[in-house]
Amino acid sequence: MKNPTVLSCNTIAEAVYEITDLLQKYPLNYGHGIQTSIDEAAYLVSFVVGLPPDFDGQSAAQLLDQAEIDRLQVFLHKRIFSRTSLAYLLGETLFLGMKFYVNEHVLIPCSPIAEMIDDRFFPWWPDKLSVRRILDLCTGSGCLGILAALEFKDSQVDVSDVDPQALQVASKNIAFHGLESRINAVLSDVYEQLPGDQYDIIVANPPYVPVSEQSDLPSEFSHEPAHALFAGEDGLDIAKRIIFGASQFLEQKGILVLEVGQSALALQAQFPLYDFMWHELEHGGEGICVLTYDECKQIFETNSVE
Ligand SMILES: C[S@@+](CC[C@H](N)C(=O)[O-])C[C@H]1O[C@@H](n2cnc3c(N)ncnc32)[C@H](O)[C@@H]1O
Repeated sequence: MKNPTVLSCNTIAEAVYEITDLLQKYPLNYGHGIQTSIDEAAYLVSFVVGLPPDFDGQSAAQLLDQAEIDRLQVFLHKRIFSRTSLAYLLGETLFLGMKFYVNEHVLIPCSPIAEMIDDRFFPWWPDKLSVRRILDLCTGSGCLGILAALEFKDSQVDVSDVDPQALQVASKNIAFHGLESRINAVLSDVYEQLPGDQYDIIVANPPYVPVSEQSDLPSEFSHEPAHALFAGEDGLDIAKRIIFGASQFLEQKGILVLEVGQSALALQAQFPLYDFMWHELEHGGEGICVLTYDECKQIFETNSVE
């Protein structure tokens, strides 16, 4: 039988179209960083031929050599038949147009909190108020802390994760973006090992999928670290610890920006006395709430008997 991933293309442009067609023949999931089959094809080809992902029309006409075609076929075969996301195969991805290194110890960056950082947390953070200190809890690849440091150029950022191997990836990304002097990576179980500073903004994209949903996820998710995805029966084990502890780590004017995705309803149901503020995302995604210092303090005080 003919190998279904044998390519017949000659140029870069032909490769992008042929690979797009091939990817579309299979039930692949694109929720991991790069969002569509054509974007994946273009990224893969640019990676293999050593061009930037936004290569121009002149480059698209370049001929591929046999070694490049062979490498494309190997990647394509793995992408289709092992259902590994392209980012893990290449060891890198784009997030908000910027490059981030990834490996099997971190989730592939795709949090919609990036959109909020890009909008400087409007309307939750006053335009004119400077942002001095930021904490990115459950940082994984470091992506959110790094984007925040790039957006708020006068800020100091702490990024933390419980997994030392994830922190290694975060440190690599911090160095790649030249932010060693402004970002500190801390190994910590939620707040436990943090130095005790106060932050203007805490961002967190913790694991929040209920363990019972593990078998419902597309195969691509099986390559992601389970402790980055799942958090107890209702998905809220880590999110609740983040909310309860936040007031001790926030300035009084500070905010907590917390992603809980589809566990939003479960969170609201657990705290019926609080009307959570949910951020409306322009580019898709759901389940990001914003809590003030006062709200976090109140929730901590009224639930601390638990
Ligand atoms: C959903 S991933 C998010 C990664 C990154 N913030 C992003 O948006 O791509 C969750 C991360 O939380 C970390 N994590 C899980 N349990 C934790 C805990 N108890 N304390 C700190 N980090 C934890 C995992 O190691 C993983 O890197």
